[in-house]
Amino acid sequence: MNDFSTEWLDLREAADTRARNSDIANAVAARFTLRDELNVVDLGSGTGANLRATAQLLPQRQVWTLVDRDTTLLDAARSKLTRWSDRHAIDGDALELEKGSRKIRVIFKSAELARETADLVGGGAQLVTASAFFDLTSEAYIREFAKAVVAANAAFYATLNYNGLQKWTPHRPADNQIAAAFQRHQMRDKGFGAAAGPLAASNLVDQFRINGYVALEGESPWLLERADRMLIDELVRGYTVAVTEAGGVDEKTILAWVKVSRSGAFIGHTDVFATPA
Ligand SMILES: C[S@@+](CC[C@H](N)C(=O)[O-])C[C@H]1O[C@@H](n2cnc3c(N)ncnc32)[C@H](O)[C@@H]1O
Repeated sequence: MNDFSTEWLDLREAADTRARNSDIANAVAARFTLRDELNVVDLGSGTGANLRATAQLLPQRQVWTLVDRDTTLLDAARSKLTRWSDRHAIDGDALELEKGSRKIRVIFKSAELARETADLVGGGAQLVTASAFFDLTSEAYIREFAKAVVAANAAFYATLNYNGLQKWTPHRPADNQIAAAFQRHQMRDKGFGAAAGPLAASNLVDQFRINGYVALEGESPWLLERADRMLIDELVRGYTVAVTEAGGVDEKTILAWVKVSRSGAFIGHTDVFATPA
């Protein structure tokens, strides 16, 4: 199992929010502008960052089901969303939030998405969304997932799918070798079969179009600078672990690569929005 700590998700939240593609976000907002309420399912919700960034695009009344297999992250989502809201009330296991003019009911669901996605999508979702999730899944999962969303006649919005582009500042000759090893690691099985990794966004777009949806995509890279030093350092640490596990790069090269002092990084992502034609 791949663990995602609350610390890592906290560290990346600001960069994720900044990176979101505004054209795609505007298309999402435009699609739902005439509705009063919306039923949303968030796959691999972690601590609820996708809700915090997306709620402002959606109608006044929203019901979100946050789905994750990690109950520690779901508990963290409950407390972070409570703090994020202007007002909150507890209704059994659900939270009732007010944020600006939005009234948001949040339901927390622990589930293994490799098995339970179709049921979750078929349960009345009008928008299925995810953030930094689909690169963990596989081409086969995405194929079946798209069919389930289309069968439910729901819209689909996935942000921050890692797309394989990366550039470090300063550039070092070993960057390409490290990137290739990292890519191999990204495509290892993360619980859904061989991971789509950098191909996730194009797989999503293809599958939704094959099933008759209109699918838009837009770049949403992390543009990290000196002020993002902690995130850059943590990324380098994560790359080192992944590249070591992937093999094919000698230890001396990895150790020298880690020691480079970096002032910036570009990490490519793609956002996808798909709707019934
Ligand atoms: C990179 S994190 C993204 C979290 C959150 N969406 C965000 O943007 O901060 C991926 C999330 O997917 C969840 N996840 C991964 N595989 C899963 C699976 N098979 N079933 C359910 N959740 C899964 C992880 O627990 C984690 O919370």
